[in-house]
Amino acid sequence: KISSDPVKVEDFKELAKLALPKVYYDFYAGGAEDEHTLRDNIQAFQRITIRPRVLVDVSQIDTSTTILGYPISSPILVAPTAAHKLAFPEGELATARAAAAAKTIMVLSFSSTFSIEEVASSCNAVRFFQLYIFKRRDVSRQLLQRAERYGYKAVVLTVDSPRLGRREHDIKNKMIAVPEKNLEGLITIDVTSDQGSQFESFANKTLDASLRWEDIQWLKSITTLPILIKGILTHEDATKAVEAGVDGIIVSNHGARQLDFAPATVTVLEEVVHAVKGKVPVLLDGGVRRGTDVFKALALGAQAVLIGRPVLYGLAAKGEEGVRTVLEMLKNELETSMALSGCPSIKDISRSHVRMQCDKLH
Ligand code: FNR
Repeated sequence: KISSDPVKVEDFKELAKLALPKVYYDFYAGGAEDEHTLRDNIQAFQRITIRPRVLVDVSQIDTSTTILGYPISSPILVAPTAAHKLAFPEGELATARAAAAAKTIMVLSFSSTFSIEEVASSCNAVRFFQLYIFKRRDVSRQLLQRAERYGYKAVVLTVDSPRLGRREHDIKNKMIAVPEKNLEGLITIDVTSDQGSQFESFANKTLDASLRWEDIQWLKSITTLPILIKGILTHEDATKAVEAGVDGIIVSNHGARQLDFAPATVTVLEEVVHAVKGKVPVLLDGGVRRGTDVFKALALGAQAVLIGRPVLYGLAAKGEEGVRTVLEMLKNELETSMALSGCPSIKDISRSHVRMQCDKLH
């Protein structure tokens, strides 16, 4: 009998679709407007080929690396995504334990369904916290202080969301806004809306669309944590981010949920890496579904990648174990790609190990 157990990360997408109510599945899976960028995040990886080298000693493969000095078992982190309870009752607690078991770092979303404090006490591991800047600056400040107090090691500032992108599945499905656990007792927002989804209404009422580069200084002045800026897609902004003094850059289009026709992240990674000139680490997320995708991103200069939806699908299908399996699958695939390309360690993966369509033939 053929096994129905998942053998690749995308198999979890099918399982999640079976496990979840349509409204929640669509919320996780959907992108903005015509979902051009959503498709291209995946397809752009498929346009890159790998240039393997043979007769290299690959009897030992080491996928381990570090990020901001913290050791991780592979360069695959958990991206911040909202509302894990919709996928599984233990929500972010389960995700946090799975990330810890896989010896990697979880970035907790501001929009988590367990609080900063609850996730911190779920298990002992290095974690980062993702923050938005709200119109009410004191709210952002308080969230940051709580994250610091509870041992989160970096702040991931998401800058691609001055307002919410048009996620048309959520609008059609009348997706409800999940209560913002981290804002309990801080602010109450009326999310009722005649137009758009409640999520959109919440975001538009709270997020500070007037945020500018100068405001990074304010954030730096109120925290000692390193700041990773998430949502950079051009060399112009990468240069500004370095000038603003951030500690790292995440090339991201928010999983194609914000601006449709934003570029697929892997197509602009190199442009960002060149602008940054090694001054700070560059990470990437969006469409990473295979170990070979991780390999390609690293070859183009990323220090690590983050995965969003695969974690949610793993969680929806099989809870904590599902997330662990997703992370393990990607790590194992990366290990195989490294062995078959002649790269025994992460530092051996170089630009000459991939070919993009625009590259000249060697
Ligand atoms: C996200 N993402 C996101 N990003 C962020 O900074 N804060 C957030 O709260 C969320 N929430 C969120 C919810 C859901 C359902 C998804 C799918 C995504 C974006 C996320 O961090 C990441 O950029 C993308 O998910 C990466 O793309 P993939 O791996 O999903 O293709």
